[in-house]
Amino acid sequence: MSSNWGNQLKLSIFGESHGNGIGVVLDGLPAGIPIDQEEILAQMARRAPGRDLSSTPRKEEDLPEILSGVRNGTLTGAPLAAVIRNRNVRSGDYGNLSVLPRPGHADYTGYIRYQGANDIRGGGHFSGRLTAPLVFAGAVCRQVLERRGIKIAAHIARIASVTDDSFPALDIPGDLMARLSRSSFAVIRARAEDDMRAEIERARLDCDSVGGVVECAVTGVPAGAGSPMFGGVENVFSSILFGIPAVKAVEFGDGFACCGRRGSENNDSFYYNESRQVKTRTNHCGGILGGITNGMPILFRVGIKPTASIGKEQDTIDLSRQENAKLVVKGRHDPCIVPRAVPVVEAAAAAATLDLLLERGSL
Ligand SMILES: Cc1cc2nc3c(=O)[nH]c(=O)nc-3n(C[C@H](O)[C@H](O)[C@H](O)COP(=O)(O)O)c2cc1C
Repeated sequence: MSSNWGNQLKLSIFGESHGNGIGVVLDGLPAGIPIDQEEILAQMARRAPGRDLSSTPRKEEDLPEILSGVRNGTLTGAPLAAVIRNRNVRSGDYGNLSVLPRPGHADYTGYIRYQGANDIRGGGHFSGRLTAPLVFAGAVCRQVLERRGIKIAAHIARIASVTDDSFPALDIPGDLMARLSRSSFAVIRARAEDDMRAEIERARLDCDSVGGVVECAVTGVPAGAGSPMFGGVENVFSSILFGIPAVKAVEFGDGFACCGRRGSENNDSFYYNESRQVKTRTNHCGGILGGITNGMPILFRVGIKPTASIGKEQDTIDLSRQENAKLVVKGRHDPCIVPRAVPVVEAAAAAATLDLLLERGSL
């Protein structure tokens, strides 16, 4: 399986949802940087399941055990390895999925790809649980970046038809970034939360699910990170963002909205500010031109589909009998993945930003 990512930074994620544990090996981190483990746990708690009705009732404490790469609270420069033991497993719920694949999940494609040998329990290696080690890795990368004044925050831009305000594209207040990046239900407009939660609850009571959009900002990245063609900022970010299960779309800056405009409307005009820094008057490009950062905030949006595992009866196939069948999915599932995906998107953004800056030799 291809669960390795990165150029300068090498990230490898292992484990299965209902196996002994999950974890990550992160190689290429700069040595000598102090790491705050409480801060890592705070980020992991934002993603952990079982907090409220909007997420799966499976409770996991997600406590990472660091095996190597940190000594006396400081990165040693050796590969950083961490393991998270699985404790709250209830594999019996998944018994029938090896023959009755869930529509919208990876049971059928995983069965074909691995000739039925893959661990199906809880989604196995395809499970959203595999994003816990990604959040661990991102929390470490984020601490390295913060020492360079780089901040990362995301929020729930949309759940079903309910929308939040967007980030201000030119100058995002540091206190807003700080608030969002610690929140477990991150929204800019406080009143959006109740409406979003009501949508999720309606779906849950209907044995159904809803999807949405996460918007993310990275500020403080200097101009000049990234490369043209296949090594661009969009390429590096997309390649890790699409590693998050249930992500179906990524757009940078104004994304598809640019396509209906004239150049005169879409171009971001340059100017020198009073400190002789190069700025743009708008930020339709999301801080990226030619695959390279221009020094403005990097802005992107991630589209997340509605949770595949729903309690309604669905049509599927019985692979052992080769006939049509009905399925009611059991197990513990999020009626909406989006709130828990927010810290995962931030973590992916942290890893991508660090990888790009290490390539540029600016760390
Ligand atoms: C944080 C998180 C939690 C998830 N929880 C569930 C879940 O409870 N039930 C489910 O069917 N899918 C869940 N998913 C998504 C599935 O893992 C994903 O849809 C599946 O592996 C198929 O991959 P794809 O949607 O990328 O094609 C979750 C994803 C994330 C990021």
